Amino acid sequence: MTTAEPVYWDPFDAALARDPYPLYARLREEAPLYYNDRHDFYAVSRYTDCQRGLADWQTFSSARGDILEIIQANIELPPGTLIFEDPPVHDIHRRLLARLFTPRRIAQLEPQIRAFCERVLEPVAGAERFDLVEAVGAEMPMRVIGMLLGIPEADQPTYRDRTDAALETEDGGRIDHEEILITEGFQEYLEWRKKHPSDDLMTELMTAEFEDETGQRRTLTDEEVLTYCSVVAGAGNETTGRLIGWFGALMARYPETRRELVADPSLIPNAIEEILRFEPTGPFTARYVTKDVEFHGGTVPAGSAILFIQAAANRDPRRFDDPDRFDIHRVSQHMSFGVGAHYCLGAALARLEGKVAAEEILRRFPDWEVDWDAAELAQTSTVRGWKTLPLVIRGA
Ligand code: HEM
Repeated sequence: MTTAEPVYWDPFDAALARDPYPLYARLREEAPLYYNDRHDFYAVSRYTDCQRGLADWQTFSSARGDILEIIQANIELPPGTLIFEDPPVHDIHRRLLARLFTPRRIAQLEPQIRAFCERVLEPVAGAERFDLVEAVGAEMPMRVIGMLLGIPEADQPTYRDRTDAALETEDGGRIDHEEILITEGFQEYLEWRKKHPSDDLMTELMTAEFEDETGQRRTLTDEEVLTYCSVVAGAGNETTGRLIGWFGALMARYPETRRELVADPSLIPNAIEEILRFEPTGPFTARYVTKDVEFHGGTVPAGSAILFIQAAANRDPRRFDDPDRFDIHRVSQHMSFGVGAHYCLGAALARLEGKVAAEEILRRFPDWEVDWDAAELAQTSTVRGWKTLPLVIRGA
């Protein structure tokens, strides 16, 4: 549907957070290559364009960051921030971290994740209402990262608060690039861990040998270990927390699906995929353009910033039948974990967290509504999701 006014999209516009999808549909159809002159960036929104661009790191570089305002601030980022690097250095750093995200290590976390869910859901058992984000979503992902890193349980809330403070922007706001890496909190833990090595990610990071980009075999410096910890904490926290919020919201909006999942929990993993497609917690990813490139007959000049809108690609009718229908039985193949060299290293962990949380919530609370008037949705420049999601429990 074309309207008289040319389509205008401002990724910092907080008012768009509630329902950005009609605007994304207009971008896909009316401006498949979009340019915003106020914030000086390009954007593409069709599935094939996002896939092509995100897979092509030579043209669409991550070396200046993957967040629009970080790219535009043109700051020097320390080595080891693999999200903000290109191959070949990126691949060396990623291989090192990937060794630690093995399927075995992730699977081993399941009983601990379940025990954590049981513990936080216990106090709300029998309640008539509770905030799902506060009870589970806000805390669980950083706890799980703590389990992975081996942070002693008593210290974990402190680490979560530090990471949240660094990543949280005001609604519609921008990330403060001075705060993008939070290594300070992990420093004390690193010192402690050196004296108490164990079977955890931090110990392995300190002791893993690898060949660096100069061909030298070595272990990571303390500073590099801290950067890695901070990258994992930054990438895996709010993204996964918001997924749990979307689960709560969509299960209230689609009660028949919720009943289906209660009757057959084996459908939960595919439901998580559909939630990730339908409401991706990270709606878009930015890149720096290294050489002139064409989309739909228009040129994006070298030196530009471009946004790949995965949330729009996930609903491209060229790729998905009836894309605005929430259907937990479809084979999703969404783009919410990225594409290519930077494909999310924590995807298996995020899926596991989503599955375990969904199982534990549905087992205790098979029927709920959301108090929509009290619920609060927020979009920052990196994530979109519920800050507050009060569930009203039926049959409590
Ligand atoms: C629902 C939850 C999550 C979503 C939607 C998500 C999404 C993404 C996306 C889109 C990227 C690619 C960014 C880019 O191309 O610039 C990415 C990268 C990454 N993610 Fe996740 N993520 C989630 C959870 C996690 C978790 C739980 C962890 C770890 C504990 C994690 C660790 C990482 C890392 C280390 C990278 C960088 C990979 C690289 O640059 O090679 N993520 N994630």
